[in-house]
Amino acid sequence: MALEQTLSIIKPDAVAKNCIGKIIAMIEEAGLQVVAARMIHMSRVQAEEQYAEHKEKPFFKPLIGFMTSGPVMVMVLEGNNAISIYRKLMGATKPEEADKGTIRNLFADMNDEDKVMKNVVHGSDSQESAMREIDFFFDQHDICPRT
Ligand code: CMP
Repeated sequence: MALEQTLSIIKPDAVAKNCIGKIIAMIEEAGLQVVAARMIHMSRVQAEEQYAEHKEKPFFKPLIGFMTSGPVMVMVLEGNNAISIYRKLMGATKPEEADKGTIRNLFADMNDEDKVMKNVVHGSDSQESAMREIDFFFDQHDICPRT
């Protein structure tokens, strides 16, 4: 088991629905620890950099619009196998495919035609992405691992 850190974003749809606390409770119940957290309203430049890998995708522009539409909660989560544990806890990218009891299954608006985009949370998909994404949003001295 490897001690890992991963970046989590609670997206504008979940923040607007006042679900931050419930989502953090699920993260903690899954055995992960919040070692940094900050609420930000992303600029277009920040959102475009965060999602640069999707630049050529047809949903890029609406995704940037959505991610800059309201505040988000960015967090660094730490734990053994944090990356895969958090991805499992989030559920599939498409909320309708997310397993029962996962964050996206519980909190996505299944009637929203943009539910793939408004899928509640983001989590890093690899160690490389985690390092890049954490570095992008946090200075090392903002991260407080348990001693
Ligand atoms: P996330 O895990 O943050 O990574 C990329 C994001 O792009 C994804 O969650 C969704 O918010 C969004 N996304 C991925 N696929 C689509 C799609 N087909 N249509 C709209 N948005 C998408």
